[in-house]
Amino acid sequence: MVDLRSDTFTTPTPEMRAAMAAAEVGDDVYGEDPTVNTLQDEVAALLGHEAGLFTPTGSMANQIGLQLAVPPGEELLADAAAHVLIYEMGAAAAYGGISSRTWPAAGGALDPALVESMIRVPGGYDTNATRAIAVEQTHNRSGGTVIPLDTLRSLRALCDRYDLVLHCDGARLWNAHVATGVPLDVYGRLFDSVSVCLSKGLGAPVGSVLVSSRAAVARARVIRKRLGGGMRQVGIIAAGGLHAVRHHIPRLAEDHVNAARLARALASTGVVDADAVRTNIVLLDLSKSSLDAAALADAARARGVLISDMGPRKARLVTHMNVTRPDIDHAAAVLADLLT
Ligand SMILES: Cc1ncc(COP(=O)(O)O)c(C=O)c1O
Repeated sequence: MVDLRSDTFTTPTPEMRAAMAAAEVGDDVYGEDPTVNTLQDEVAALLGHEAGLFTPTGSMANQIGLQLAVPPGEELLADAAAHVLIYEMGAAAAYGGISSRTWPAAGGALDPALVESMIRVPGGYDTNATRAIAVEQTHNRSGGTVIPLDTLRSLRALCDRYDLVLHCDGARLWNAHVATGVPLDVYGRLFDSVSVCLSKGLGAPVGSVLVSSRAAVARARVIRKRLGGGMRQVGIIAAGGLHAVRHHIPRLAEDHVNAARLARALASTGVVDADAVRTNIVLLDLSKSSLDAAALADAARARGVLISDMGPRKARLVTHMNVTRPDIDHAAAVLADLLT
């Protein structure tokens, strides 16, 4: 099977497993796991922040970030297709009491002027105030698109002007960095908090890190414990993440080359905009195809290729380190055959 459903299907390499087996550990609820502490410090430094917090999932890292930023009953602004709102089981509302409004799904093409027009300032007699803006870099549902640095700088200026917190769901911030060459800390310093995933393209089995100021991370530790995310000798897992951060960032470029290759091979079927592919995600627009996403996914599975059904007429292909160049060519041939 060539598995293009998600970069979450990556499995640990032998070197990563060896690092995990040899990890020094301690009780991380007491802050005494040396491997977790090293991971948190290294990721925070990479992203230009004071401190980091290891979490079991990206969802938990995001939701802690949002809870740090928005008091219950107040408001978050985000993209209508933001992972933090549509793929985290309503956690912002359920656990943070966070009210949210969205701008129309724009992925990397978001418009700071539109975002500004949505901000509600404190003091209205019948409106709850906007407290934070969340962005996603890269943007999953829009096909791994990258928000340009200038747009992010405009959002930062907006947040400073209106005293808002800017959170980044940076599950794939690594991919944006590799695709654009913008240093991770240049991205990182634009945000008050950033969550990054270790378990997607980087290939670790588990884990994310939330970075922010030292004071915010101290509050984040309390929220993590409240959510049941205080873990004990978790250095065994953190060691996989540390290995990934130290060794697997540059290789994401291969995934981007493979995604571009896949998109080019499918371009003649009319379902892919190959020029829109910036990172490791290829979206198929099946609105004019005779197959819908479920039918295409079933037919592809029968021929050894796994893809994601993202809605009736949208499918997603994600390249990652467990997919080789020959796998890509095989998948492209199968999908092109099904689509023509
Ligand atoms: C953009 C984005 N943010 C956050 C997450 C959440 O990660 P996790 O599955 O570890 O909760 C994902 C997972 O797919 C994602 O794609």
